[in-house]
Amino acid sequence: MVISICQAVVTLLWFIRVTDGMPDPAQRDLLMRQEAFRQTGGQVALTAAEQKLDAYLHHLKEREMSAAQFPPAIHFFRAKPLIQKSSIFKMLQKMPKGAALHIHSSSLVSVEWLVKNVTYRPHCYICFTWDNSVRFLFSDRQPFPRWDCFYWQLLQTLRAKIGDPTGFDNSLMQHLTLFTEDPDGEYPNQDVVWEKFEKAFIVAAGLITHAPVLRDYYYKGLGELQLDNIMYLELRSGLSRTYELDGTIHDKAWCLKTFQEVTKKFIEDHPDFLGARIIISVHRALSVSAVKAAVKEAIQLQKAFPDIVAGFDMVGRENSVGTLWYFREALSLPAEMGVTLPYFFHAGETDDEGTDVDQNLLDALLFNTTRIGHGYALAHHPLAKELSRKRNVAVELCPISNQVLKLVSDLRNHPAAVLMSEGHPMVISSDDPALFGTTGLSYDFYQAFVGIGGLKANLGTLKELAVNSIRYSSLPPHLKDTCYAMWQNKWDAFIVDHS
Ligand SMILES: *[C@@H]1O[C@H](CO)[C@@H](O)[C@H](O)[C@H]1NC(C)=O
Ligand SMILES: *[C@@H]1O[C@H](CO)[C@@H](O)[C@H](O)[C@H]1NC(C)=O
Ligand SMILES: [Zn+2]
Repeated sequence: MVISICQAVVTLLWFIRVTDGMPDPAQRDLLMRQEAFRQTGGQVALTAAEQKLDAYLHHLKEREMSAAQFPPAIHFFRAKPLIQKSSIFKMLQKMPKGAALHIHSSSLVSVEWLVKNVTYRPHCYICFTWDNSVRFLFSDRQPFPRWDCFYWQLLQTLRAKIGDPTGFDNSLMQHLTLFTEDPDGEYPNQDVVWEKFEKAFIVAAGLITHAPVLRDYYYKGLGELQLDNIMYLELRSGLSRTYELDGTIHDKAWCLKTFQEVTKKFIEDHPDFLGARIIISVHRALSVSAVKAAVKEAIQLQKAFPDIVAGFDMVGRENSVGTLWYFREALSLPAEMGVTLPYFFHAGETDDEGTDVDQNLLDALLFNTTRIGHGYALAHHPLAKELSRKRNVAVELCPISNQVLKLVSDLRNHPAAVLMSEGHPMVISSDDPALFGTTGLSYDFYQAFVGIGGLKANLGTLKELAVNSIRYSSLPPHLKDTCYAMWQNKWDAFIVDHS
């Protein structure tokens, strides 16, 4: 197949040469079209109305690309206000985007809500730690000191004493997000930004894992996605233990049941939302035996909640701790036991070529991963790339995450530009929206469409990316059909509204 295409091109080039000195314009045109045919969405046939909208988008994109400041070339924290003004972005917000397949539960809901709503609830205690961070805890009595927390203060009392509640709330938000006015100064390298990243998760945990908050939190999270015209979610979650005011602890099954109930309620209130599922994730910093136990537990939970549990993943910075191969004994358990536990591995979220971490890509494929989280390094691995394409293992591209976590600064240089130009199986997602200061998928779609895809990415590209999010989801075939039909209706309405 590859050989015959190569031969065709060689023959073509030979024809071009023999015409005369100048390449034949018609042949040139043909080559250009053949190349465009290969890109993401290159084979999508657009209706007349879609072509009209496409031409308009093209015009808008040319204008944004020639402006003094081009958002994808700038750090997202500084580009965000520019993107919010972009006409393309506003259209992307309205566009039905299908599914969000790579979001982490502890960063699902905007920090604004966590601070302005959750920390204002009664019984919320705060403690300032020695390393300049904070912890939150809901309790019906004065909490005991902990190793990281000597002195808990009731937030209500503290707020009453503080003169500047807005300033105080902003300082709390700073602990929960990476967002800053000066990203390059504050985060000089990957180590510094990852340290802040992991810290913010710990801060958020005290709020989110309070059982009554968790319910509202999920509901609010689904709401933020639905407002951004997303209809289905696959959420990576460690199913952390949740607690009540009196200190009662709930287990993972409780967490899944709650998630199921909240999702059901949300669909009742918003019938145009299809649903949500969980990818159970564990941290790479665990030992092999702990991951073995986690895999076994995930198998049990999937049996108990087949409609909600999609599969399993490992999270945490790939560079710092265990590789997939390091955990091979744990990850082989399902196959050994003769059961299926679909994997959705983060792999290749690195720019360290040739390291052990870099091998995670091939290992993820060897363990039959269903999708690849990030796959930032995939363009440099011809064999892994070929396998992922052949097996329809989609890459979950999260452009803003890659930029904020310092893998790439100018998104035009993102290696996924190669994957997009080849039409590699791909979906767009947002990874940790709250930490990066995004909501929904529109910001990441903007970066992929305008920055990574460049001028040649068109409405067909957007359409294919949205369809891909359903195609590569873990939904069973009949629900995929339902989801696709719902999406098509929304898409048709979107086109009518914009042409
Ligand atoms: C906080 O959120 C809950 C649930 O989303 C809502 O019912 C409540 O009114 C909110 N409270 C405040 C102070 O915004
Ligand atoms: C991956 O899939 C292949 C083909 O279905 C199967 O033979 C193999 O056992 C699977 N490997 C693992 C680790 O699940
Ligand atoms: Zn992730």
